[in-house]
Amino acid sequence: MTLTMPGCEKAGATRIRGCLWYVNNMPVRIGLIGCGNIACQMHAPTYKAMPEVQVCAVADVTPARLSLMKELLNLSDADCYSETEQLLMRDDIDCVVIMTPQQFRREIVIAAAQAGKQILCEKPIAVAPQDADAMIAAARQAGVRFGMVHNYIFFPEVLLIKELIETGAIGDVVVVVQNYLSVEDRPAAAEYKPDWRHNPGFSGGGVLMDMIHPVYLAEWFFGSPIRSVSAAIDRRADTASAVEDLALVRLEFDDGYGLINMAWGEGPGGIEITGTRGRILVFYKNFGTCPFMPVDQIYVVTRDRVMTPHLDRPVDYTTFFRQTFQPLVRDFIESIKEGREPIASAEAGKRALEAVLGCYESAALERVVYLPLPSDDPVYRSGVAGLSDLAIDGNNRLKRRRLYGL
Ligand SMILES: NC(=O)c1ccc[n+]([C@@H]2O[C@H](COP(=O)([O-])OP(=O)(O)OC[C@H]3O[C@@H](n4cnc5c(N)ncnc54)[C@H](O)[C@@H]3O)[C@@H](O)[C@H]2O)c1
Repeated sequence: MTLTMPGCEKAGATRIRGCLWYVNNMPVRIGLIGCGNIACQMHAPTYKAMPEVQVCAVADVTPARLSLMKELLNLSDADCYSETEQLLMRDDIDCVVIMTPQQFRREIVIAAAQAGKQILCEKPIAVAPQDADAMIAAARQAGVRFGMVHNYIFFPEVLLIKELIETGAIGDVVVVVQNYLSVEDRPAAAEYKPDWRHNPGFSGGGVLMDMIHPVYLAEWFFGSPIRSVSAAIDRRADTASAVEDLALVRLEFDDGYGLINMAWGEGPGGIEITGTRGRILVFYKNFGTCPFMPVDQIYVVTRDRVMTPHLDRPVDYTTFFRQTFQPLVRDFIESIKEGREPIASAEAGKRALEAVLGCYESAALERVVYLPLPSDDPVYRSGVAGLSDLAIDGNNRLKRRRLYGL
């Protein structure tokens, strides 16, 4: 039996109600900070296609990336800055979107908040929870909205799962399994530092930090925060990277469990949800991993029937991936206008970051780690750099692999 969920053919249709299109009937004036791959491939085309926003200025420390964005958005030299502070000084910018590597975000977000800009920030929010808390406090003090690019919430299959859960189609959720075992290890912009994701000082972690998406999605599906984490974290012995390329994670919620299996590798992908009255299974093309493969098949199985909801399946990666950005940006703009938190809040960004770091700490100490991390935990203060201050057994796998400078 085939079930077409009304509105689910369009990303965001089930969640985004009453789009406002304009704030005060004027386009929201945006400044882009960081003009790397994600900025040029996903964000810039998104804003170009949205009449409710206008990109007025861009900033980047790498001249070649600045030129590329200038061409893409047809900007003048005067609107392109090598120093972010100059962009932040402009009065004609309402909102900034921050797309630098996460290591630089604390300073930029706090400066943006102090300049009175609304802030949309790429994931992960920062490299240490203490930084995230400082950023959130700065935004609160300045009275500006601070949202995250947690765009996977807006994949049509994710919206569908959320709707099925909320309407009780499979009863209460007990276990959420997310397989991301064939994440592609794509280099960052060649003109900057294409390998920064493998440098813990820049990235704050490896594949799990980079693909933090299923961590915030687990929370999104359960509708409650993660209470504790435990994880096996590893790097294949034949590579020399200082970050993990394999993470097998268990998340504990008040009323259920999440499992995330993730790797830069060739394993299977997909989502499997166990409820008290049924199950949902999502497979991607060739049993691959989202978003590198588009949705292939969805099954909703209850005791008396099997449904295969239909979703549009864009064939190419760019179309499939890009469809998540517009509804996210639109929700963020609405949240400013309506004075509410965006669907993807900075607090959710901090909780997801803390869960990832809790996984690294769990693998280091070989025990369950409870969240939130206490403020005197070196990992709360410094992220993976704080792991070296923990009492880690000499034979621990992270040490043997020399991950994160251990
Ligand atoms: N939401 C998603 O699905 C998604 C996908 C890919 C990347 N990302 C995130 O986007 C961010 C950027 O990733 P990327 O792949 O585009 O990296 P990238 O290396 O291609 O781009 C980073 C850009 O930031 C610039 N930059 C570095 N430091 C800066 C500073 N202090 N001020 C201004 N500009 C600075 C660099 O010159 C470079 O152009 C990362 O945080 C990453 O996690 C999110």
